[in-house]
Amino acid sequence: MEKALAYAEAHFEDFVEELKELLRIPSISTDPAHAEDVRRAAERLADHFKKIGVTNAEVIPTEGHPIVYAERLVDPELPTVLVYGHYDVQPPDPLELWDSPPFEPVVKDGVLYGRGTCDDKGQMFMHLKAAEAYLAAEGELPINVKYVIEGEEENGSKHLPGFIEANRDRLRADVVLISDTDMFADGVPSITYGLRGLAYVEVTLTGPDRDLHSGMYGGAIENPINALCRLIGNLHDDDHRVTIPGFYDNVAPLTEEERETFRALPFDEKAWAAEVGVTVTKTEAGYTVLEAVSARPTLDANGIWGGYTGKGAKTVLPSKASAKISMRLVPDQTPEEITEKIRAYFELHTPPTMKLTFTDLHGGHGILIDTHSPAMEAAAKALEGVYGRKPFFIRSGGSIPVVADFKNILGLDSVLMGFGLDSDAIHSPNEHFGLNRFREGIASIIRFLEIYRETVHTSSEAAA
Ligand code: BES
Ligand code: MN
Ligand code: MN
Repeated sequence: MEKALAYAEAHFEDFVEELKELLRIPSISTDPAHAEDVRRAAERLADHFKKIGVTNAEVIPTEGHPIVYAERLVDPELPTVLVYGHYDVQPPDPLELWDSPPFEPVVKDGVLYGRGTCDDKGQMFMHLKAAEAYLAAEGELPINVKYVIEGEEENGSKHLPGFIEANRDRLRADVVLISDTDMFADGVPSITYGLRGLAYVEVTLTGPDRDLHSGMYGGAIENPINALCRLIGNLHDDDHRVTIPGFYDNVAPLTEEERETFRALPFDEKAWAAEVGVTVTKTEAGYTVLEAVSARPTLDANGIWGGYTGKGAKTVLPSKASAKISMRLVPDQTPEEITEKIRAYFELHTPPTMKLTFTDLHGGHGILIDTHSPAMEAAAKALEGVYGRKPFFIRSGGSIPVVADFKNILGLDSVLMGFGLDSDAIHSPNEHFGLNRFREGIASIIRFLEIYRETVHTSSEAAA
């Protein structure tokens, strides 16, 4: 392990340059116009696996974007880690808000800027560099490692569950290791043990069969934008609780122990709000900010459109109004259940003057992971080795639906050892990743692979 750590230090500048090459490919999975770029990113990644000595890497086509699979099997007696990550990225829009072009990565003051620097190319790439460090400096990996790097995460991972189902044997492992989450703060190592799920829908209300003159018709023809705004407005009550009947039926309540854990985190609410330009927060009544953003379900309109949105004024009574609405879920809500409940809400409340079109865009299950396992202990020790302090165990408000799929299909728990920060602006303009965290992440993974080998070794000896 020491030699691998030294190798990573010595080659750090090269690692950054190689990451930049991957970042230059605009692998935007949601935009069909970039399908060829997504494929190019997959090819480059597979080539890079081969270059570092994980020689059997392949680009596996799916009905959507390809999956990059690679493995290095050292010894069947040793434990096996399945590394998951994604090489696709979010669209860079709005482009005019970037200080430097999103796909021309640059380092400023020790921070790497560009789309995907943190989510997830930068974090995923740390796993390749950790493997390279072992292979180049020590000749072999400490344990067996398999890699599933997908190209559709930002677009709902539509073809990943099918791939996992179809490759149960090939993906056999002891644990999943993922770097696609946040740390509590810079220098404060963290392991995420909870993720929220997601239900994402689109609704359209259609009234008249064309846009009308608002003077000739306004007053007797009901306006779809007015109606849609009323329906969306009514989705929350004054306590910021979601009003959809049954929405909270399956929400696992927070235990007193968990609330205590949240309270123990060094959280500065004012600073947190100020960082996004807000002075007052708004949570569901009875819950703190940290609880509300990670352990409670939510509903948010993500976009709304209809009528005239160009310059100046146009007196028009629109034919249609649409909105995209997402709900973050917690265990034990399911995306199917919640999607049906919001569908029923819109069906019930669509005015008789209009027609409703309802589309289920995608969903994913939330999860809570047992923090008492050899892999969690190994991750905690690895992080302590790098940061000189024990990690916090945190629940995140984001979603990585495949974590529940790994559990349900393969029976595997995941260790979410992430190095992002809330302030990294993932999905936003000027996404960035501190190079200190890129370096610390690589070192943490190098340590994890070695420590996990020992932990499993001792625990099976103890059981024997
Ligand atoms: N890496 C994020 C999820 C994340 C971010 C988890 C920060 C924890 C902390 C992931 O790429 C992502 O953006 N997921 C989507 C869900 C997906 C189904 C589109 C999300 O959370 O919106
Ligand atoms: Mn991600
Ligand atoms: Mn993302």
